[in-house]
Amino acid sequence: MFFLIFLVSGSITRYCGTTAARERAGTNTLLSRLPQVNDMGTGMEDTTEGVVERDGAVALDEVRAVDPAVADALRAETERQRSTLELIASENHASEAVLQAQGSTFTNKYAEGYPGKRYYAGCEHVDTVEELARERAKELWGADHVNVQPHSGTQANQAVYLTVLEPGDRILSLSLDHGGHLSHGHPANFTGQLYETESYEVDPDTGYIDYDGLRETAEAFNPDVVVSGFSAYPRQVEWERIQAAADAVDAYHLADIAHITGLVAAGVHPSPVGVADFVTGSTHKTVRAGRGGIVMCDEEHADDVDSSVFPGGQGGPLMHNVAGKAVGFEEALRPAFDEYAHQVVDNAAALAERLAEHGFSPVSGGTDTHLVLLDLRESHPDTTGQAAERALESVGLIANKNTVPGETRSPFVTSGVRVGTPAVTTRGFEEAATHELADAVARVVDAAGEDGDLPEDVEREVSATVDDLCERFPLYE
Ligand SMILES: Cc1ncc(COP(=O)(O)O)c(C=O)c1O
Repeated sequence: MFFLIFLVSGSITRYCGTTAARERAGTNTLLSRLPQVNDMGTGMEDTTEGVVERDGAVALDEVRAVDPAVADALRAETERQRSTLELIASENHASEAVLQAQGSTFTNKYAEGYPGKRYYAGCEHVDTVEELARERAKELWGADHVNVQPHSGTQANQAVYLTVLEPGDRILSLSLDHGGHLSHGHPANFTGQLYETESYEVDPDTGYIDYDGLRETAEAFNPDVVVSGFSAYPRQVEWERIQAAADAVDAYHLADIAHITGLVAAGVHPSPVGVADFVTGSTHKTVRAGRGGIVMCDEEHADDVDSSVFPGGQGGPLMHNVAGKAVGFEEALRPAFDEYAHQVVDNAAALAERLAEHGFSPVSGGTDTHLVLLDLRESHPDTTGQAAERALESVGLIANKNTVPGETRSPFVTSGVRVGTPAVTTRGFEEAATHELADAVARVVDAAGEDGDLPEDVEREVSATVDDLCERFPLYE
């Protein structure tokens, strides 16, 4: 035990943060209403056995005893999340409650099948949790039927394709360059290999979906499924217009709300539920629950979707993740979550506006969602997305390079950067802090060299700003 105290004591100050930061955390409105997120332990916990090393929600003493290398990496990752600002639009910080549920003994349980109809004995407790996850999801999104077992968003989409397509059938979706996703028919993905695919695009002048072009392409291509829902699209989607195009060619409509599940649940983005035939989503992005995917549909397709998830595309469900989904959905049903989702969108708008004031060009001129897509070609013609990503990372701002509509560089280099507000909003950011963040992003990208190198003074000063913001908006304390 003494060894353990010695081992972790050097990091205690850093992991606890300053007293002032802890006090500020207590007054931080969003986080103080979500006690699980900001009450993640101090790194050490007194128990009857002694002192246990904790890393956020997870006790690490047993891991350290067996595998110090992994314990070090787990601890370092939590510290990385605490000491940097996460701007990757698809990421978030799950609560202690969600993390604990995912780290539970459910990881041991095989539960092939569905509640009440399993292929294994001993499923009464996983049945309880899967039923809770399903009922909460139905309430959150207003769906008739929800399958909560997909291991990921891609597996959720796979289940829908298995339900309505035969190999060789046709998918129409937004091109990857314009904000689509690999699992919507890209040649590198099984969807592009099993199915014939065609793309629609955003209007090059406005950056909004070209709904008329989509309809024309649908009429020419005659798809079996039209996919909507995107990875890098900053505007609200007009689901009805896409449904009308699908109806015109007698195709199914799959709305993949992976990124905006939380915004749709909170009513800050229109819902495709009740419009599209199938709605899929990720559960770990804006809705901030356990990691994985979901499929929603009406009763007519319920049995087919369930069979497509299991046994069609998956084996035993990851019940520990289903437990994380149930807990995260419970949190999302509380009024504080609606405030959070509104603030995510307000922060993204503030970020886009301030960056535009700094001379940046957000695709479509701004955002209605949780993300801003910066097209650097006009404002910073010599700076690639890759260089910007590197420069931002060097000062603790974690974003991702991204292709932009009409991209001229390779997907590994790109001309854009995608920045999102879900994770910083979980830390408690409101507009004022978001403006500081935008100023920091602008300063870094303005100064970034060809390889993402930064002048020393910029690196030093912006790193200090990031440290200050992390301390004022602490995480997993
Ligand atoms: C629109 C869209 N669909 C599907 C996915 C896939 O989700 P996963 O990574 O969980 O498979 C993503 C991932 O970001 C996405 O953006």
